[in-house]
Amino acid sequence: MNLVNLGCGGTYHQAWINLDLEPPTPEVRTWDLRRGIPLAPGSVDAVYLSHVLEHLSRSDAKAVLQDALRVLRKGGVIRVVVPDLELQCREYLAALEAVVHAEPGAEARDEWMRLELLDQMVRTRVGGDLLEHILAAPPAQRDFIRSRIGAEAEVFWKQPEEVAGARLSRPGLMHRLPRWIRRKLAAAAVRVIAGPTAVAAFQEGLFRNSGEVHRWMYDRVSLDRLLRDTGFASYRVVDAWASGISSFAQYELDAAGQQVRKPDSIFVEAIKP
Ligand SMILES: C[S@@+](CC[C@H](N)C(=O)[O-])C[C@H]1O[C@@H](n2cnc3c(N)ncnc32)[C@H](O)[C@@H]1O
Repeated sequence: MNLVNLGCGGTYHQAWINLDLEPPTPEVRTWDLRRGIPLAPGSVDAVYLSHVLEHLSRSDAKAVLQDALRVLRKGGVIRVVVPDLELQCREYLAALEAVVHAEPGAEARDEWMRLELLDQMVRTRVGGDLLEHILAAPPAQRDFIRSRIGAEAEVFWKQPEEVAGARLSRPGLMHRLPRWIRRKLAAAAVRVIAGPTAVAAFQEGLFRNSGEVHRWMYDRVSLDRLLRDTGFASYRVVDAWASGISSFAQYELDAAGQQVRKPDSIFVEAIKP
């Protein structure tokens, strides 16, 4: 089986080919999907993208899906997972209504949904306002945040020493050092040539191209249209466990046991006809 995980971040399995623009560890190959998928036509059984498509412009996303069609064998499966825009909008409207009706806890839910919808599109620094909000969330608000972003939220509520320890022991820190040095040098050159305002713009540009920001959002209808227009067939909305990819659940990419990793998601699959 040839399985490819595009934009895998820290969520990867060794049985897969794992590619990412900003690999968190040397086990993941550095690759910018805007350059296409570095594999031969018809050579792949399954392509998986989780919370990646929304980080690409609409035209780049379309090009990546076209390339996925190219590398898949006939009958191969594409599995796309994205934050569900429909669900977000429904949650946002429900929270807004709850505020209007002065329901307890509604203000916090409303603030969260606003951040969830907008912050990742407009932020100019790692984590944005959403991260600050998560870090400052009192225990009473945490169940709702967990229900939106899953167990990943727990990391932010650990003791500061635990977080610092985890950061220091994070694999791949040395691997990213040369690029960090190059960027520091480039920023120094920009400062000399164009001044401090240009440095801020340069750094914001680097951040906005780092793969963290959302450039578009999707729902069950627009994903269907996009995959159909690209040439895929047999579109279906699935759940975190169900898949046409053989033994998908065993890789624990979308769920570990009964726990869905990213509960704010929509999971869809289609086939190369
Ligand atoms: C929200 S994270 C999702 C990571 C992982 N797939 C998951 O489900 O946890 C988005 C990932 O997409 C990657 N990414 C964004 N733009 C990319 C690009 N042009 N090429 C490759 N990876 C990209 C980012 O580096 C980041 O790891």
